[in-house]
Amino acid sequence: MAVLTESRLPLPLVRKGKVREVYEVDADHLLLVASDRVSAFDIVMAEPIPRKGAVLTQLSAFWFERLAGVTASHYVTADTDQIIERVPELEGVRSQVSGRAMLVLRTNPVAFECVVRGYISGSAWNEYRDHGTLAGEKLAPGLVQSSRLEPPIFSPATKAESGHDINVTFDAVAKAMGAETATRLRDLSFEVYRAGGTHASERGIIIADTKFEFGFDQRGALRLIDEVMTPDSSRFWPADQYEAGRVQPSFDKQPLRDYLAALRSKGEWNGEAPPPRLPSEVVTATSARYLEAYRRITGRDLPEEA
Ligand SMILES: Nc1ncnc2c1ncn2[C@@H]1O[C@H](COP(=O)(O)OP(=O)(O)OP(=O)(O)O)[C@@H](O)[C@H]1O
Ligand SMILES: [Mg+2]
Repeated sequence: MAVLTESRLPLPLVRKGKVREVYEVDADHLLLVASDRVSAFDIVMAEPIPRKGAVLTQLSAFWFERLAGVTASHYVTADTDQIIERVPELEGVRSQVSGRAMLVLRTNPVAFECVVRGYISGSAWNEYRDHGTLAGEKLAPGLVQSSRLEPPIFSPATKAESGHDINVTFDAVAKAMGAETATRLRDLSFEVYRAGGTHASERGIIIADTKFEFGFDQRGALRLIDEVMTPDSSRFWPADQYEAGRVQPSFDKQPLRDYLAALRSKGEWNGEAPPPRLPSEVVTATSARYLEAYRRITGRDLPEEA
């Protein structure tokens, strides 16, 4: 199975993100292709991480199948043979899609990211530490960095075209989408996070926070879209190392972060593009972490052909 920095498929390219390419299959379907690119400190590294794309895609597929009773989704298939059967143009580029592609229903995406936070970290922690609030709304006093939030908090954000997303209030979503849709987005987000977070924590991974996207299908019904509860859309923490009051290690990216942090403290990298070259041990260790996350959550090894 090939390592892939960037796919080039014989289909119209709709969008290229930091990690994934989105292609148009037909009026009703898209193909999401997760490359092996990895980003850290908001910079995309030059070296691909073997199997990372397949881990992201197959983990999302696992969740979509497992959560089918909780929410409708855009998921059609992430099985390479089935995809090629339905999109025969891909036969000649099988090695580029193998395991890493997902055929999905095209939707009209909701303009808000539906973030659920079960622990306070990242931009939410920064705002709370400085102002005691999240998106301007007061939170309970006395939280420390990485504190558990029980119950979890719905913390929507607007999708910024570039740079960091902006946290907004539930009322802002209600104003834009109507109270009924906003409430539905919040309830679905909580249900998916509850189901997924409980499953993961029983397997030694804390999903500290996660970002969901939803879209309206042709009938106007909401579906869960994009990727779901992957290390790229969520913070995965090793449960056995959790300790409130400090930054938590990342289940997936810690070898990479440690390497980059050491370079920065030695003054050998300024934290900006171009990224430093990654030694093969760092690439291998990071790949192993992604595969381990997949194995823990799904209870099986990522199939060879994936
Ligand atoms: N079913 C769908 N219908 C329409 N759009 C979708 C669907 N599923 C996902 N998308 C959109 O596909 C895009 C995926 O590209 P995105 O830029 O997020 O890639 P990425 O590699 O995750 O990059 P980044 O790290 O910058 O988020 C998103 O804009 C998402 O809203
Ligand atoms: Mg994305």
